Amino acid sequence: MVLLRCVLLFVSLRASLGGSVENVGPHVHATAGEVWPKPKYQEGTDQFYVVDAQLFEFKSDVKGCDILDKAFLRYQRIILDDYRTVENHANSLNRIRHEKTWKGDPLFQGYLKELNVSLGGSCDSYPKDEQILQKEQYRIVVNETGAWLNSDTVWGILRGLETFSQLVYLARDEESLRINVTVIEDTARYSHRGLLVDTSRHFIPVKSLCTMLDAMSYNKLNVFHWHIVDDQSFPYVSKRFPKLSEKGAYTQNLIYPVSDVQYIIDYARDRGIRVIPEFDSPGHTRSWGAAYPELLTECYSGTTKNGLLGPIDPTKAKTYSFLTELFKEIISVFPDKYIHLGGDEVPFDCWKSNPSIQQFMRKNNITDYELLENYYIQNVLHIVAKLNATPVVWEEVFNNGVQISDDTIVHVWYPNRWEKELFNVTDAGHWAVLSACWYLDMVNSYGNGDWLKYYRCEPTSFNGTKQQADLILGGEACMWAEAVNEYNIIQRVWPRASATAERLWSSVDVTDEQDAARRLEEHTCRMNRRGIHAQPPNGPGFCRY
Ligand SMILES: *[C@@H]1O[C@H](CO)[C@@H](O)[C@H](O)[C@H]1NC(C)=O
Ligand SMILES: *[C@@H]1O[C@H](CO)[C@@H](O)[C@H](O)[C@H]1NC(C)=O
Ligand SMILES: *[C@@H]1O[C@H](CO)[C@@H](O)[C@H](O)[C@H]1NC(C)=O
Ligand SMILES: *[C@@H]1O[C@H](CO)[C@@H](O)[C@H](O)[C@H]1NC(C)=O
Ligand SMILES: *[C@@H]1O[C@H](CO)[C@@H](O)[C@H](O)[C@H]1NC(C)=O
Ligand SMILES: *[C@@H]1O[C@H](CO)[C@@H](O)[C@H](O)[C@H]1NC(C)=O
Repeated sequence: MVLLRCVLLFVSLRASLGGSVENVGPHVHATAGEVWPKPKYQEGTDQFYVVDAQLFEFKSDVKGCDILDKAFLRYQRIILDDYRTVENHANSLNRIRHEKTWKGDPLFQGYLKELNVSLGGSCDSYPKDEQILQKEQYRIVVNETGAWLNSDTVWGILRGLETFSQLVYLARDEESLRINVTVIEDTARYSHRGLLVDTSRHFIPVKSLCTMLDAMSYNKLNVFHWHIVDDQSFPYVSKRFPKLSEKGAYTQNLIYPVSDVQYIIDYARDRGIRVIPEFDSPGHTRSWGAAYPELLTECYSGTTKNGLLGPIDPTKAKTYSFLTELFKEIISVFPDKYIHLGGDEVPFDCWKSNPSIQQFMRKNNITDYELLENYYIQNVLHIVAKLNATPVVWEEVFNNGVQISDDTIVHVWYPNRWEKELFNVTDAGHWAVLSACWYLDMVNSYGNGDWLKYYRCEPTSFNGTKQQADLILGGEACMWAEAVNEYNIIQRVWPRASATAERLWSSVDVTDEQDAARRLEEHTCRMNRRGIHAQPPNGPGFCRY
């Protein structure tokens, strides 16, 4: 009986995906030379250049802009690596034959040896402002005379270089690298396009984080939300409070020393990615208590301490002087104007059990635990405001009625009611970032690679006005790390987060799922070629190279 049910389930799943008849060949045929995420405007043709990868250069009149110089080297390598891939694929005899073939093709425009890159503005050093939307705008022209990329900012040039590298494709029948004559005018729909990575539940080494940042740049994501510490471990090495990681990290090998944190910030910056650190409190702080138990609430069973520690104790003045020192350091280490303060999932049972907390509440006329939480968060918000940083908070802080400043971003995460939450947050005039529909830890493993549900989430499909929708800054895919470590995090995130990336970059009307599936098939193979171990997106298939 059990067996029969399994068989039935299996059959119905297969039927729901591809029809009951299995055809030979891949489930989805990959495109060639299509861009992910889809540009705002593209006019394509069938005319093509063969890219002369060995001589290929980026030409620019900008001198001494290290972000551009490094980007040119990266993309030169990517194009050269693709060339080596086709080289290995063809034997030399074949190449000579094919060269003749494309030379005789009326669509052949010649050999492309350079991209002329021009920067309209100055060479910025950090992608600072939240309102960077206009600044990622770029234009690519590949016409009869050559190839051009221009933008007013380095960040736009970075996005354009990525697009250019994706336009270069491995021709199917002829063993060559090609690019078609085309015009692209592109700009991001949302300015905040993020990926949260939790490095507390499992430690994620710097090397994996760099791979993650590479993949983010291949998908035009621009915010790395570093959920760096949590209950389970405190891998961030604080200069002011080194005991936090000495006692709170899993081991002394699994930490991020100052130099590693700086390396990540620079690595991200070179790819046009901002780093927003999260130091979540007053809940999710158990690891802080390994070194500083006095920060946390002592829990009671009846009238006696039971040895357990709860959330940060909001009643002690010392708590706030500690936090002032800690945040002062964090804000000096991370150049971004924003800092994520967490504020989610605060359990009240330990606070409720503790007699000195009760006493404090009576004395200060704090009548319930939400209000006690608010008292804490309000204090932390004041500390951070004094340090000239701008807070991001999880939605609970807004829901509980904490007074938040106009520039605070509310991060919407709770599943199944996010439309209503976005309505409420923006109705109150606050900035919002959406994550609720992009939790990458929710896995459905069968068949297609589980990206469609992310692709179908449209941030503006809530009941608000135009003004409300304009308060949505963007969103973040979230990779909580309970069930991932360095060995599976890359394939868990990619290409599933690519769905979020296209939703946040491309126009609202980019919803053709079949077209997306074909482009994502190509994009995943492209990521694989570039060393990103992304999992297959669409069921049965293969990568040509
Ligand atoms: C590029 O041109 C070829 C013909 O040369 C055509 O088959 C292909 O569809 C074009 N690709 C794109 C992405 O426009
Ligand atoms: C790039 O193009 C512009 C305008 O067409 C031209 O003036 C400039 O010389 C070109 N630069 C390079 C390095 O080719
Ligand atoms: C090709 O594009 C460049 C840059 O936009 C432009 O200067 C040039 O005139 C174009 N060539 C033709 C033949 O349209
Ligand atoms: C305590 O708070 C309640 C409700 O917030 C208020 O009605 C009351 O006047 C307050 N009492 C004192 C002593 O401040
Ligand atoms: C939104 O606000 C309404 C009215 O205050 C409230 O009833 C509702 O629970 C809120 N929705 C969410 C998801 O917080
Ligand atoms: C959505 O809009 C309709 C019509 O304006 C309104 O009746 C309804 O209450 C709204 N729902 C929410 C969740 O705001």
